[in-house]
Amino acid sequence: MPSILSELDAVARAAFETLGYPAAIAAVRESDRGDAPYQCNGAMAAAGIAKKRGEKVNPRDIAAQAVEIMQANAAMGQLDIAGPGFINITPADALLTTRANALLSDPTSGLRVESPQTIVVDYGGANVAKPMHVGHLRSAVLGEAIKRILRAQGHKVIGDVHMGDWGLQMGHLISELAEEQPNLPYFDETYTGEYPSESPVTMDDLARLYPAASNKAKSDTDRMEASRVATAQLQSGRRGYRALLDHFINVSVAALKVGYGNLGVEFDLWKGEACVDPLIPDMIEGLKTSGITELDDGALIINVDDKWDPKTRKGTPPVMLLASSGAVLYHTTDLATLVDRKAEIDPDMIVYVVDQRQALHFEQVFRAAVKADWYERDQLFHAGFGTMNGKDGKPFKTREGGVLRLEDLMEIMSDAARDRLDASGIGADFDAEERAEIGRKVGLAALKFADLQNQRMTNYIFDPERFTAFEGKTGPYLLYAVVRIKSILRKAKDMGVSAGVIAVAADTETQLVIALDSYARAIEYSAEKYTPHVLCEHIYRVAQSFSRFYADCPILADDVADEVKASRLALATATLAQLEHGLNLLGIEAPERM
Ligand code: ARG
Repeated sequence: MPSILSELDAVARAAFETLGYPAAIAAVRESDRGDAPYQCNGAMAAAGIAKKRGEKVNPRDIAAQAVEIMQANAAMGQLDIAGPGFINITPADALLTTRANALLSDPTSGLRVESPQTIVVDYGGANVAKPMHVGHLRSAVLGEAIKRILRAQGHKVIGDVHMGDWGLQMGHLISELAEEQPNLPYFDETYTGEYPSESPVTMDDLARLYPAASNKAKSDTDRMEASRVATAQLQSGRRGYRALLDHFINVSVAALKVGYGNLGVEFDLWKGEACVDPLIPDMIEGLKTSGITELDDGALIINVDDKWDPKTRKGTPPVMLLASSGAVLYHTTDLATLVDRKAEIDPDMIVYVVDQRQALHFEQVFRAAVKADWYERDQLFHAGFGTMNGKDGKPFKTREGGVLRLEDLMEIMSDAARDRLDASGIGADFDAEERAEIGRKVGLAALKFADLQNQRMTNYIFDPERFTAFEGKTGPYLLYAVVRIKSILRKAKDMGVSAGVIAVAADTETQLVIALDSYARAIEYSAEKYTPHVLCEHIYRVAQSFSRFYADCPILADDVADEVKASRLALATATLAQLEHGLNLLGIEAPERM
């Protein structure tokens, strides 16, 4: 069934239309004042319209006329006119009750969109060989939430990790391995046999080889040249290097699957830059033929801004398809990926969940893809995000100054969560295993919620202490709310009380139902702007509304009548279902108890 708000909205719009005003001015919204839960401000706009028509009418009179029409509808409980002509609306108890019971039987009621789209979410973006670090955290956490939110609306959503596996880092690995183990068949250009199926390196080797090479290359130009040559030979198809690349990718993907898995992040596609390489020659030929490429100092470019001025560097610089050396660049692989996605998926929409510092890159790529006539501009969206900073306000680093690895970050969070649990005595009587599991879940919830609750463009400070607090707008607070309802339900079961039909009576119940009612709107808004923080706000509001309801309306107390128990228990059940559904969309999992 539609939401309470949309029912009221339809009635108000119809009333204003009957009075000869455009329906749009009568939009109903949740009230920010305490007088009534909803309000309609159409009368003021209507008076303005009337004035333009040369009529002189008082907005309060228009409001009175509208109220008279609206009153006839059973959805309306109480209607009051306030101030210059605001209409305060309290929905009828019957409407609240019907809606509450609809949410009880289907917590996803009203979430689905009418025309689902095919949407690719490009997120994660980890680099092969380099261990995942905190910079990839936000992309994974935000991207996963965006993917799940869009999926909940019924869209067909494909999450693609789009690994970085085609740059200089591959040349570094190859040349470093060549120094370490020159006798491997991959380095023998006369070798024509099959290469071993077993990888010559482990993830630990990769994590060691890459920094070794990159450090040497910083001070040694010959060493750098060796990596460049290896990259170029790999990209122009040297057989042994290709075979090595496959090993590197397989080893990395296996490790990444573990890392992302621990974070609760899953991808549908494990594609990367390397896998679209075979498409590049044809793509370049096609772009040349279409006449949009130019040669610039030996490099092949696409101009994407008529006003671009290379001297002042004002405007959007051109896309670089091929460097003068013939090397393929970041623009090129992203464009080839667009070609690949068009052919394989033909998406209505592609959303890139990538650090805001790459905004220019995406602007350039999008413009080129539009200029090439592959996509419309509004099919491509860069959902950028700010950085997670240390207390010094700079992107977060370890105490030693290095980038923090994701594993270590998760450990910091679990530790902080466990300290909190110990300090508060929560879960004190559980065994060590369960306590560790609770610590992990609380730590992860703390980290994810802290990340997601900010508008994605804002930077935020990594503060495990604050993130793990059980009070305030935090992940642990929400988990606690969920666990508390679960324990009420368990207790009810033990007492033989079961949920019945919800009959909304108390004010705190009305407020809780009104909060639950706005779920679909929060999802809609989050989906439209790719901003999960709106959903976070919503979940927090529901948890708080539940808390107020429960303080006001005991569920299992002896003096509560059976019918009332059953109704309140049902309302708690509906609340739990929505909290769990919403938290799941944020990628947050609650323990059974704590
Ligand atoms: N691998 C890149 C990095 O670590 C991020 C990839 C983002 N996605 C994309 N389609 N370019 O910076």
